Formats: sequence, structure tokens, C-alpha cells
Amino acid sequence: MKLFLDTANIEEIREINRWGVLGGVTTNPSLVAKEAEDPDRVWKEILAEVDGPISLETTQPEADGMYEEGVRLSQMADHAVVKVPMTPDGLMAGKRLVADGIRINVTLVFSPAQAILAAEIGAYIVSPFIGRIDDVASDGMEALRKICDIYEVQGYETNVLAASLRHPMHIVDAALAGADIATMPYSVFKQLVKHPLTDLGMDKFLQDWKALQEGLEKGA
Ligand code: E4P
Repeated sequence: MKLFLDTANIEEIREINRWGVLGGVTTNPSLVAKEAEDPDRVWKEILAEVDGPISLETTQPEADGMYEEGVRLSQMADHAVVKVPMTPDGLMAGKRLVADGIRINVTLVFSPAQAILAAEIGAYIVSPFIGRIDDVASDGMEALRKICDIYEVQGYETNVLAASLRHPMHIVDAALAGADIATMPYSVFKQLVKHPLTDLGMDKFLQDWKALQEGLEKGA
């Protein structure tokens, strides 16, 4: 399972990219708005920093406008992936973009039925929103498991991207469900690497090493 960052903040992206595990980036209009900068500038910086797929979201609500916007976004870089929403207009625009050879990510997906539609238009990525399903007292992970099972049974090639992930166990469970990609905020990426026993173990190793050096120096 590839690990993506769900942010438009270039500093966060640069920091995690240095770890060597960053497979790509997802952005959405809310994340880009948080940066309070020219969106094209924000996207260009991200595209220059990370080699993997970078999702850039359309904001035009109607199919024709969305298609034109999608074509423009796709021209920003070869690794740009155009996000379209799971609406009838999104499906229409998405299908045209796919026909043009443009990779699309169908976003705002909340059910297996919607995920089937995304696969049927030949989406490169489908993005079920796990955390937001949980927020309405439903089971986001169960929806993800069903989507992964359906894609397996049907032989769909669309990549399942678990989105709206809120904590490390979401990433573990998404991996177990068979998701191809998990996208997460910077804070969750940082939590992934953390374990109190790792910190304690490091402290002890360094203390013992220092004691050895001091003993050797005294004996010299
Ligand atoms: C990513 O593609 C989604 O837009 C994002 O994961 C949504 O996350 P949120 O529900 O935390 O806003």
C-alpha cells in the first residue's frame, strides 16, 4: 500500500518526503484554501517536490466546465491526477477526461455503489472517505472492505485510495482491507513512526554507548 500525504502545505510535504516513503499527494479545495496563496503556485511547488501521483481537484460544478478545468490541471505535469466529484457531472466530465488519456481520481465517494460507478468510467483512483463515513455514525472501514472485495471480484483496475483517515489504526486497517493507497494528514504521518518503546529503547542504547565510551576513556 502506497502512503500519500493529504495536504497542500509544501513544508509538511518536504519534511515527510525526506523519509523516503512518500508515494504521492492528495489535495482538495479546502486544503489549498488553507495555504491562502495562488493555487497554481501551490500545486506547482508540490508537483516539483514529489514524483508520484499528485491529485489536483476541479471546482467547476458542471460537466463542460469541469472537463475544461480538468484538461488544464492535467497539463500542469505528467504526474498530475485530476480529481472529479462523485456526481452525475463528475462522471460525465471524468469519462471524457479518461477518453483523453487523463488519469482521474473520483472523490467524495461514500459507498460501494458509488465506487462501482467510478470503476466503470475507468478512473485511475477512487477515494472513499473513511473518517467522514464514521462521522455520520456509519462504518467507514466496512465500506472500504466491501469496495476492495468488489474490485477484486470484478477485476477492476481502479486504485482504491483510502481517504479521510484520522489516526494510525485507520492506516493499518486500510492496509488489511487491501487498499492500494492510504492518504493521511501530516499529523497522522508523524504518528505512524512513533512508538514509546522505540523512544525508550533509543535512550537506553545511547546511554549504554555513552557509558562504554566514558569507561574506555578512563581506562586509556
Ligand atoms: C482526500 O483526497 C480527501 O479530500 C481528504 O482525505 C478528505 O479528508 P477530511 O475528511 O479529513 O477532510
